[in-house]
Amino acid sequence: MPVTMSKPSCVGHLSRTSLALVLALAGACDAGGPGASGGDDASGTSSTSADGGVETTGSGEAETTDAVGSSSTGEDDEDGDGLDLPATPYNYANPDLPAHFRTPLVRALDNTPQDNPITDHGATLGRVLFYDTALSRNETVACGTCHQQAAGFSDTTQLSEGFEGGLTGRNSMGLSESRWYATGRFFWDERAATLEEQVLGPIQNEVEMGLTLTELVERVSTRPYYRELFIAAFGDDEVTTERIARALAQFVRAMASYRSRFDEGLAAAGSIRSQFANFTAEENLGKDLFLQPRTACVACHLGGPPPPPGQDFANQAIFLPLEPLNNGLDAGPVEDDNGVGDITGDPADDGRFKSSSLRNIAVTGPYMHDGRFATLAEVIDHYDSGIKPHPNLDPRLRGPNQQPRRMNLTPAEKGALVAFLGTLTDEALLGDPKFGDPFVR
Ligand code: HEC
Ligand code: HEC
Repeated sequence: MPVTMSKPSCVGHLSRTSLALVLALAGACDAGGPGASGGDDASGTSSTSADGGVETTGSGEAETTDAVGSSSTGEDDEDGDGLDLPATPYNYANPDLPAHFRTPLVRALDNTPQDNPITDHGATLGRVLFYDTALSRNETVACGTCHQQAAGFSDTTQLSEGFEGGLTGRNSMGLSESRWYATGRFFWDERAATLEEQVLGPIQNEVEMGLTLTELVERVSTRPYYRELFIAAFGDDEVTTERIARALAQFVRAMASYRSRFDEGLAAAGSIRSQFANFTAEENLGKDLFLQPRTACVACHLGGPPPPPGQDFANQAIFLPLEPLNNGLDAGPVEDDNGVGDITGDPADDGRFKSSSLRNIAVTGPYMHDGRFATLAEVIDHYDSGIKPHPNLDPRLRGPNQQPRRMNLTPAEKGALVAFLGTLTDEALLGDPKFGDPFVR
């Protein structure tokens, strides 16, 4: 069964090295301005985007209470299919995103393909697939095993155990804000060109889940509970790898993190630069440090260019770098893992890795592609005094002499940065039943 994967609507032609293009696209996608191809770009984005928030109905949310109340007892599993799903699907398509998610730049980062917008029924099917151990050879492991909601859809081990106890080659990635990565490429080394392609990777991976795509379709076809879910999501009960991929991608894209204390503070203050009334003095200090050229955190991790003088950051929402970068973890190419360089074969890409979003970062440790740092304090120590002179080390982490920068942070400043990162924890997302395990176990 061939799987044809579509290009993201606005950003399909975007090369991962081009910051300038993202900026150009911010205009093109937003207004359908010059360069936007007809109405396609605008509609592809807006149909799944924040401005649909007005259409959010209360009904999906009303079900929430029922589902939560009964999921622990399993009483909602009235038809005995082992699943606890609300009668009316939860609202995944139109989350009530705050204003800082609705800026032109943030909307241009959306990698939702035109032909796979998030729908409530599609993401519901994706949710069941995400938590179904039937997707692994010996039925022990699901996506949710290594991408745990309480851990920001990551897990807490350095490497994760697959279905036979084998270890993954890298640290599991947190999945918050996957939707807002403009190139649409996935994995630490960006080997997957789209999220629809990515989600089939772990299922076939020999360590992680160990099924062939043929076996996958067989497995899903023989589970009775999928019939209705496919009909609701796609109009009929045909099970294909493409539909499985689409539904899983919808569910992952729906994992929007926008209800943290940072979001509350920003909504009240209007700018990330202002003091946030709901922050402690330490958290406000950490935020200031994050924004300062001295640390340069913002230059990579806020996903946007430095603002022109007198203007504010165009992206204050996503906390994902725009492209894979080298942050000086190693002094040069290493034997086992050179990230993007191993995929492209270009030495200039050695040691470049995608980072996941800093959203929910306090709960997704250990950190970095190989999980080498157990705590955020260790991460800050790395940036403060541990950056190594890799030939591809990003200029933003070099001093005037091109050597790795030393930030000379005081212990209080380091603590403040960790405290600020903690404000990005989104308890509402991490506890939201619509992203939880629907199986009554
Ligand atoms: C055995 C553990 C394990 C299982 C099971 C697993 N993953 Fe992962 N996932 C990982 C690891 C480890 C990575 C990083 C791998 C890499 O980059 O080489 C990852 C990366 C990802 C990414 C990339 C995120 C990004 O920002 O680039 C997505 C999306 C993802 N997984 C979704 C899924 C889905 C969907 C499933 C189920 C079909 C799944 N994973 C099953 C461990 C797992
Ligand atoms: C030059 C761009 C750059 C700068 C500047 C930068 N980072 Fe990073 N950061 C990255 C990259 C790239 C990664 C992923 C590296 C890897 O795993 O190989 C990363 C990873 C991280 C991680 C771990 C993410 C995870 O999911 O494991 C944290 C936390 C982090 N950075 C925080 C910060 C803070 C705080 C600052 C400022 C002190 C900062 N970064 C400055 C590029 C940068």
